[in-house]
Amino acid sequence: MKLKIGIIEDIHEDGIKLLENQPDFDYEIIKNISKDNLIKRLPEFDAITLRNIPLGIDILPYCKKLKVVSRHGVGFDNVDTKFLKENNIKLLITASANAVAVAEHVMFMILNISKGKTLYDNAVRSGDFRSKVFKNETFELSNKHVLIIGFGRIGKNLIKKLKGFDMKVSVYDPFIESNTIESFGGTKIENLDNVLSDIDIFTIHTPLNSKTKNLITLDRLNKMKKNTVIINTARGGIINENDLDKALNDNIIFAAGLDVFEKEPPNLNNPLLKNNKVLLSPHSATFTKECSSRMSIQAVQNIIDFFKKKIDDYMVVKL
Ligand SMILES: NC(=O)c1ccc[n+]([C@@H]2O[C@H](COP(=O)([O-])OP(=O)(O)OC[C@H]3O[C@@H](n4cnc5c(N)ncnc54)[C@H](O)[C@@H]3O)[C@@H](O)[C@H]2O)c1
Repeated sequence: MKLKIGIIEDIHEDGIKLLENQPDFDYEIIKNISKDNLIKRLPEFDAITLRNIPLGIDILPYCKKLKVVSRHGVGFDNVDTKFLKENNIKLLITASANAVAVAEHVMFMILNISKGKTLYDNAVRSGDFRSKVFKNETFELSNKHVLIIGFGRIGKNLIKKLKGFDMKVSVYDPFIESNTIESFGGTKIENLDNVLSDIDIFTIHTPLNSKTKNLITLDRLNKMKKNTVIINTARGGIINENDLDKALNDNIIFAAGLDVFEKEPPNLNNPLLKNNKVLLSPHSATFTKECSSRMSIQAVQNIIDFFKKKIDDYMVVKL
């Protein structure tokens, strides 16, 4: 009998093509992601791909045949890993698909903010060709000091791009040896609090967990320089949103770039959505056509490899 794969929410067509004509697998795309529908439908699947919707204890006990969850992405804070471990359900991630796109998104945010976001474009369109462009609102990246918080797949890809802009790069990641960081041209920071007042740009690349939630609060923001820029493409909640909004409004720091939010989609009355010191994107760092294709293929290939007992360890989360 064929194994059944549930594709929860649409994925790029390249991943679906891979599933067509597979002799050992049937698949179905589940577009209705209401809890009721998932409880009704998921019991029939041996494997699922999962984007960002929560997969918790309210749904998982109904997944009686489930042997593997294949994340379309690398973060897994939306999955109840305790339940998976206790029930011997494997968790796979698209480990080699995402880093380039996210690192490029960070560069997009840093460059955009450094050039005043839409300042120049607005100036030309509004006929203000000569005056606004000379305002002191833009800055160079060269020689600025960046702190990468979390030096995994994305942090390691990003550092090459930052060094290409002649930036000084330090890294805060208690789990990575200084030798490794130095081999990428960075400097290891042992204590985050000791460097807060030295850094021009912070960029966050840790998972969201009990240690990283509220890693950046008003207490730490207050110790930063006035020209500080913070980029968060990791997960909402690592920077406290209310504190960030206050720090921007009170000119404690200069600007922020956010791809991720504590609640997604964010409420329209979230003050950060109205704060023009913030550059926003809708959790879209991986939405390039190349990365969408890679992630869909890898999420599907991981399931096939898992059942054929040839899954690469790099794709398996150690629960
Ligand atoms: N915006 C997006 O679309 C998007 C896409 C991909 C990944 N992400 C997020 O980015 C995060 C990083 O992705 P990755 O592939 O680089 O992950 P990774 O697992 O390769 O790297 C994470 C790094 O964070 C470090 N770390 C863990 N706890 C830390 C702490 N308390 N302080 C400092 N460092 C800590 C780890 O040692 C590791 O080196 C993911 O967890 C995910 O949530 C977001």
